[in-house]
Amino acid sequence: MDKLVIKGGRQLRGEISASGAKNSALPVLAASLLADSPLKVSNLPHLNDVTTMIELLGSMGLDIILNEDMDVLVDSSTIKNLNARYELVKTMRASIVVLGPLLSKFHQAEVALPGGCAIGSRPVNLHIQAMREMGADIVLENGYIKAKTQGRLKGANISFDPVSVGATENVLMAASLAEGITTINNAAKEPEVVDLARCLINMGAKIEGAGTDKIIIEGVESLSGGEFSVMPDRVETATYLTAVTMTGGKIKIKNTMPDSLTSVIHKLQESGAEISTGKDWVLLEMKKERPISISLSTGPYPSFPTDMQAQFVALNSIAKGSASISETVFENRFMHVQEIARMGGKITLKGNTAFIEGIETLIGAPVMATDLRASASLVLAGLVAEGSTSIDRIYHIDRGYERIEEKLKVLGADIERISLT
Ligand code: UD1
Repeated sequence: MDKLVIKGGRQLRGEISASGAKNSALPVLAASLLADSPLKVSNLPHLNDVTTMIELLGSMGLDIILNEDMDVLVDSSTIKNLNARYELVKTMRASIVVLGPLLSKFHQAEVALPGGCAIGSRPVNLHIQAMREMGADIVLENGYIKAKTQGRLKGANISFDPVSVGATENVLMAASLAEGITTINNAAKEPEVVDLARCLINMGAKIEGAGTDKIIIEGVESLSGGEFSVMPDRVETATYLTAVTMTGGKIKIKNTMPDSLTSVIHKLQESGAEISTGKDWVLLEMKKERPISISLSTGPYPSFPTDMQAQFVALNSIAKGSASISETVFENRFMHVQEIARMGGKITLKGNTAFIEGIETLIGAPVMATDLRASASLVLAGLVAEGSTSIDRIYHIDRGYERIEEKLKVLGADIERISLT
């Protein structure tokens, strides 16, 4: 198992490029199941979750060709079975997004129930309910969702409560090949949903309203593959911007999508960072010695993203003043709090809110990554801490941040990956 060791206290300066978005790449790869001809997907990030999705499609018999840029050509005409096995699904909940495409295209699917994870129970009831409303016959048996339909799925009027990114994506894909019109009410508005819709439209789907809370899909009889480049990763960009707001310095991030970052950019500006943006770049300069503390509440897009909550807990732990951060999307997403407290952070948890009293500096310590975004917050804490921080279980980081130590080194951080195997 690898570790990251960071010696804190350096200002970060330089230019990096954003990677492709994990949360767009995963459903877009699943969309290849719907196509009658191969789908070429580019701008894929080199991440363990992307590899898991490729393995999952490969385990169903899909023919997958990978070139040196990691563009992937997926051909679903060679499919041999319609099973998403537990061994793969348990490592990545997002595997559930194969349910809609399998059912819609092949009229049958067996997808392992993902089970719990570190940030809460994360049920899949909305996915199952929506497929049932579209005419699927579903039983839960031996830890699997066993689904089938007589002929094509049927268009339906679906409403989500709470709003769900994954369930919206599953229905988008299922409805694209269903018979008739599907309306998704209270649809997720996340940019990754819009990106998936863009990919499906490119494949021949008829979709209107992606990016609003009402999406209307008119099912078509067949979809083709083609080529698609996934959007930049907004959470990755936001994480590096937050890092530099904490360490001080200046960063330019290229090949990114500032429009998808509005809520985070506003909070970083409130915190004292100077930010300018172009069509596909963000420039951030932090001249102040310490950021100003920032209170916030997470929520579905365009509200502040839950995937940036942990990083802002880290920011507030060394900020001037006190702040409160409320998590409204996931029930148990504060695993980073006790680790940052090991570094001296003054944080009290009450229900779904963390109260943080900013202190001048954190002190390096051995800490443990517990989930993807929690690990990112520990890296940020390590970058500003006095002395050395070693972060264990960084396989969580490798699920979502491409070459994090290389990018941070480019910016001047003292960070090493230590391979323990
Ligand atoms: C996606 C993102 C994740 C992000 C999250 C919220 C991917 C691969 N992951 O996760 O990074 O943190 O959106 O922006 O895109 N819920 C139910 N029943 C369901 C489904 C969800 O109750 O069937 C609840 C969840 O427990 C949670 C809320 O809905 O409280 C939102 O979850 P959802 O939007 O579905 O998250 P994911 O799609 O899993």
